[in-house]
Amino acid sequence: MVNIAILGASGAVGQELLKTLEQRQLPIGTLKLLASPRSAGKKFPFRGRLVEVEPVTAEAFNGVQIGLFSAGGSVSAEWAPIAAKAGAIVVDNTSHFRMDEDVPLVVPEVNGDLLTARPPRGIIANPNCSTIQMVQVLDPLHREYGIRRVIVSTYQSTSGKGASAMEEMTAQTREVLDGKPAVPKVFPHPIAFNLIPHIDSFTANGYTKEELKMVNETRKIMRAPKVMVSATCVRVPVYRSHSESVNVEFDKPVDLARVRELLSGAHNVVVVDDPSRNDYPMPAYAEGRDETFVGRIRKDISNPNGTGLDMWIVSDNLRKGAALNAVQIAEILIKNGVVR
Ligand SMILES: NC(=O)c1ccc[n+]([C@@H]2O[C@H](COP(=O)([O-])OP(=O)(O)OC[C@H]3O[C@@H](n4cnc5c(N)ncnc54)[C@H](OP(=O)(O)O)[C@@H]3O)[C@@H](O)[C@H]2O)c1
Repeated sequence: MVNIAILGASGAVGQELLKTLEQRQLPIGTLKLLASPRSAGKKFPFRGRLVEVEPVTAEAFNGVQIGLFSAGGSVSAEWAPIAAKAGAIVVDNTSHFRMDEDVPLVVPEVNGDLLTARPPRGIIANPNCSTIQMVQVLDPLHREYGIRRVIVSTYQSTSGKGASAMEEMTAQTREVLDGKPAVPKVFPHPIAFNLIPHIDSFTANGYTKEELKMVNETRKIMRAPKVMVSATCVRVPVYRSHSESVNVEFDKPVDLARVRELLSGAHNVVVVDDPSRNDYPMPAYAEGRDETFVGRIRKDISNPNGTGLDMWIVSDNLRKGAALNAVQIAEILIKNGVVR
């Protein structure tokens, strides 16, 4: 039996963690739900009983073996070292530790081999949601053909910015349909009947931090420091699941039949690609699913060497992009005896 704490339990990712833990049947001893004093006292159902949310304190981590954190970067910066010092392994959903050299950044299907021992600081980072689904598809192709360059445009759902962002989309949609102005609070502009080419803050080179996460995290997870990535990240009025248009240039010419074979064999990747039946991945169908879906697979006609490929990748950002990936990491730590 393993003692687990969720920090950020009342949030969008926290709630999905709770659901995922219930569905995956981990051998859980005690489960602590932690958040800020704002939601302390709220109760959430878990395996037939109600678990009360406690405010996070140092004492709350006594006896905790795995901490699943999703309460924001500054909260993780403060509490992850405290939880690790108390003996827990923290799987952190925020971006705070992701690029630290001594913190493994893990997508189990790609680099789960890193999970054989307690990490140096007791912290493992869960990657950015858009990056997770992309590397699941890119990695098997990289091993066969060698990726040179990736150009990706994302279509990211509102849940990627948390529970309050989903509520804002609902409220604004009602306002617009009632003929009233949509008032933005969470997003910089109205998200109802709109899209916003701006996720996270802008950096000096004109890219946003979200876009640079896709560059740097892809290289770290795939252990491919030379792969070039250029990303444009866009928020769209969808509740759940991120979609991505991905153009890849390889070292060698690609064979479409082999690409389909590789992707069909990739763990937790599903090829949905039959234009004759209008079959392609879409966010509405990916919602609540564990797999990452890939379709619209075609050779890039603008590439005269036959080394280009276009794809459309969709996955549930709260599920594989956050909660499921973290729970998979916990499962492997238990299976490998790193957590007993
Ligand atoms: N949404 C996604 O798809 C996704 C994917 C990957 C990673 N992430 C990352 O995961 C983190 C959480 O995202 P989210 O979408 O779940 O956000 P959210 O819905 O806004 O939830 C935030 C959670 O953090 C808690 N919290 C906030 N400030 C706190 C504090 N000072 N002390 C303790 N708990 C505090 C909140 O508790 P209260 O209810 O008490 O305020 C709530 O439980 C973010 O860093 C985000 O970047 C999100």
